[in-house]
Amino acid sequence: MRFEDVAAVLDGRVPFMTASQGRQVYDHIRSERATSVLELGTAFGASAAYMAAAVAQNGGGRVTTVDRHHFNAGPAPPPEETAARLGLEDTIEFVRVDHSSYTWWLKEQIEARTDTGGTTRPAYDFCYIDGAHDWHVDGLAAVLVERLLKPGAWVLFDDLDWTYDSSTSPTPDGLSAEERATPHVRAVFDIVIGGHPSFDRLLVDDGRWGWARKRL
Ligand SMILES: C[S@@+](CC[C@H](N)C(=O)[O-])C[C@H]1O[C@@H](n2cnc3c(N)ncnc32)[C@H](O)[C@@H]1O
Repeated sequence: MRFEDVAAVLDGRVPFMTASQGRQVYDHIRSERATSVLELGTAFGASAAYMAAAVAQNGGGRVTTVDRHHFNAGPAPPPEETAARLGLEDTIEFVRVDHSSYTWWLKEQIEARTDTGGTTRPAYDFCYIDGAHDWHVDGLAAVLVERLLKPGAWVLFDDLDWTYDSSTSPTPDGLSAEERATPHVRAVFDIVIGGHPSFDRLLVDDGRWGWARKRL
């Protein structure tokens, strides 16, 4: 599906990913010829749709997108409805972990793909992490995602500068003033990914996106 066709349906109508961000992930998936994509944090399905359009344009594949909520009401239609409107329903797999978190779902995927010798069969050509934005959740997610990425695949972190202080999201109990003021995703990117031996290229884009490539 062409970028212009998906943007014409999403832009300004479906939060959260903007058309210019959609263009960037679309072009990345096209240029890397990615066909197996993972997303942590679906919301109304804008980013999933941009990524699925690129996967479809690559000849077909799957975007698996994981969230803990069903978005059946709000400023946009449910993500399943948007996918169907775009004809991308067979390209997007919506996973709902109502009871839990994508970190638990990642644990299950790794268990299912790990042999008795401890080797994990990687699954994904690209991963977009745009979920909790929390050190405790996404620090673990980053480590688990690395196990599922194919060599040479990129992971993209959204919202490097997001903080609890600057957000209307509920703040977990017991966070210190420093934890509320510190950008958690940037800490994950700098400390967990930056210090991880599996990643050989790190790029910060536009100040708010962190890209990291798993070593070939
Ligand atoms: C910013 S929204 C995602 C926006 C979407 N990627 C887009 O650009 O269209 C973040 C989503 O992450 C989900 N989320 C946050 N923490 C989560 C967790 N621990 N497990 C599963 N989903 C989570 C929220 O329910 C929310 O829908």
